Amino acid sequence: MKKNAEFDVRDFRNALGHFPTGVTVITTLDDDGDPIGCTASSFNSVSMDPALILWSVDKNAYSAEIFENAEYFAVNVLSESQVATSNRFAGRGEDKFKDVSYIAGTGGVPLLEGCGAQFECKTWNVYEGGDHLIIVGEVISYSHNQSKTPLVFSRGSYSIASQHPNLDSYSSVSTGSEFLNDFLLYQLNSTISLYRKELYPALIEGCNVTPEDWRILTLLDKSLSLPFVDLSKLVMQPIEELKQSLEMLSEAGVVKYSNDTVTLTTKGGALQSKLVTIAKHHEKGLLSKLSEDEIRTLKNGLKSISGIE
Ligand SMILES: Cc1cc2nc3c(=O)[nH]c(=O)nc-3n(C[C@H](O)[C@H](O)[C@H](O)COP(=O)(O)O)c2cc1C
Repeated sequence: MKKNAEFDVRDFRNALGHFPTGVTVITTLDDDGDPIGCTASSFNSVSMDPALILWSVDKNAYSAEIFENAEYFAVNVLSESQVATSNRFAGRGEDKFKDVSYIAGTGGVPLLEGCGAQFECKTWNVYEGGDHLIIVGEVISYSHNQSKTPLVFSRGSYSIASQHPNLDSYSSVSTGSEFLNDFLLYQLNSTISLYRKELYPALIEGCNVTPEDWRILTLLDKSLSLPFVDLSKLVMQPIEELKQSLEMLSEAGVVKYSNDTVTLTTKGGALQSKLVTIAKHHEKGLLSKLSEDEIRTLKNGLKSISGIE
């Protein structure tokens, strides 16, 4: 256990990242009546009766004072297709609403399109919370859309929530349902879960590489450098979180990043080769019941369904 005095902010954030959250954009209007929005994962429920929710805003955020004094605000719970919306509202500044579709809710607060749920709130109280303000809102109306799947934020990366497959053993993956056992989505889901369950611990054990770092390292081509913004989209990490991951990889000497461009170092290239060897070894184990021809057919079929070139 690390004691309070030994806390390193980066490590503390990494520990907190093990608690997955949804992603919201909190919106309101400023004194001039202009729309304001801030991406926040600190949203949570507080009370059923009265209906209260909370979120916390960094005191250094541009919008902190505006939210502190706002009479009304809205919580827009993002769906899995709204990563770009999350990234846009995680930027600092005023003009985040350009080309964003929204309607005016109670008190004129912006309600974004395409969200999984929305809560219109009247500010109930604002509390001190260290370097953040804790804003409690009374929910005055809400809506939700069952056809939307939530966007999840976990360990510094965007994720999606899918139902947990049974992972107790290979045999127990079979459900007894003729339909499910022959249903491609169920088969793919179970296969992916089995693969991840074995691969991720092996990457940590063999190379001390997390699943998030593994994504970055496998995407970087040895001879090419990748613009920072493109990498952020490919690994599904917001810019600030990607910077933190890259800082750590750079301290370990495996990547170099400058002028918003990321490159694999020689040491990084060697690590990448080691990771690929581990991944291939695990893939071989998973596919051991299939012949070479069956493996090729399976891979070609999946490539053509998914559009992977
Ligand atoms: C997934 C994610 C979750 C975030 N959660 C919060 C949060 O709960 N509170 C907060 O103050 N900032 C949070 N941020 C950072 C803010 O969105 C960011 O500081 C933004 O610049 C604030 O906007 P503003 O400076 O225009 O007010 C989060 C960012 C991301 C990408």
